[in-house]
Amino acid sequence: MATETKEALKDSTKKYTEQTLKSWNEAAAIHHQRNPDLAERVAEPGFNALEADFNRLVDAQELTGASVVQVCCNNGKDLLSIKNKGAGYCLGIDGSSKFIEQANSLVKSGDFSDMAFETHNVYEIPPHHYGRFDFAVITIGVLNWMPDLQGFIQTCSKLLKPGGRLLMEEIHPVLNMYAEGTPSHIAYSYFDREAQVSDDGLDYFTGEKYASEPHYNFQHTLGDIFSAAIASNLVLETFEEIAEDVGNCCGDLANIPHNPPLALTASWRKA
Ligand SMILES: C[S@@+](CC[C@H](N)C(=O)[O-])C[C@H]1O[C@@H](n2cnc3c(N)ncnc32)[C@H](O)[C@@H]1O
Repeated sequence: MATETKEALKDSTKKYTEQTLKSWNEAAAIHHQRNPDLAERVAEPGFNALEADFNRLVDAQELTGASVVQVCCNNGKDLLSIKNKGAGYCLGIDGSSKFIEQANSLVKSGDFSDMAFETHNVYEIPPHHYGRFDFAVITIGVLNWMPDLQGFIQTCSKLLKPGGRLLMEEIHPVLNMYAEGTPSHIAYSYFDREAQVSDDGLDYFTGEKYASEPHYNFQHTLGDIFSAAIASNLVLETFEEIAEDVGNCCGDLANIPHNPPLALTASWRKA
């Protein structure tokens, strides 16, 4: 029975993520159009696209020469920023081949070496990458695509060497209760873990609407995140809740008197 349940979770995870990745592939060309000067910016010495709070967390690490993997790296801009801080071997993984094409093109824009970008669904990362990294990095907008949070965090843990660290910047789960509007307002239960399907295009730069391939979204509470980390042998070292709009979503909430947390940063050490 337990095995059947595990198999069912594996099958639904595959179904949801493969569909969602079609939507990300579709979004790649649009994101590229929205950031026409990105290659030029990447070429500038010291290019750094990290958000301020996450940048502080990264700067608090002993990064020089350290190996870093970013899961769901998108076009690689955040990993290129970390490489510029003196990291050693850096590997970016994303399930969208179109974003990985962009990352492989961007890496040629600057003076980067000892870096690679590979296309993998995070649930199917080849085991030869396990245990190779001093740091695993997740930047904003990743957890909500994961049907199986524990499986995802477990994978991040597997990528780390013993003593390695998982660094995360994410949308705060409380923000997932809100729908955008004027003003943004509470529209969803904090505890609704059902798959949310949508065919709204994934242009979070302008918010311009287009009908896209359907994609599946999942709410994970703070408790879910902490429990998944505990089950993955990860020990929480830092945790910060952020009042500013980091994910370009419901930004008006940053300026209301009874403001909710909008983002978080956290770091864990693999025991
Ligand atoms: C919101 S973006 C992350 C953006 C990142 N914070 C940045 O600014 O570069 C989410 C990324 O997760 C990737 N993704 C979603 N589901 C995935 C999966 N199952 N496996 C691998 N990548 C996935 C998407 O292709 C997309 O590039």
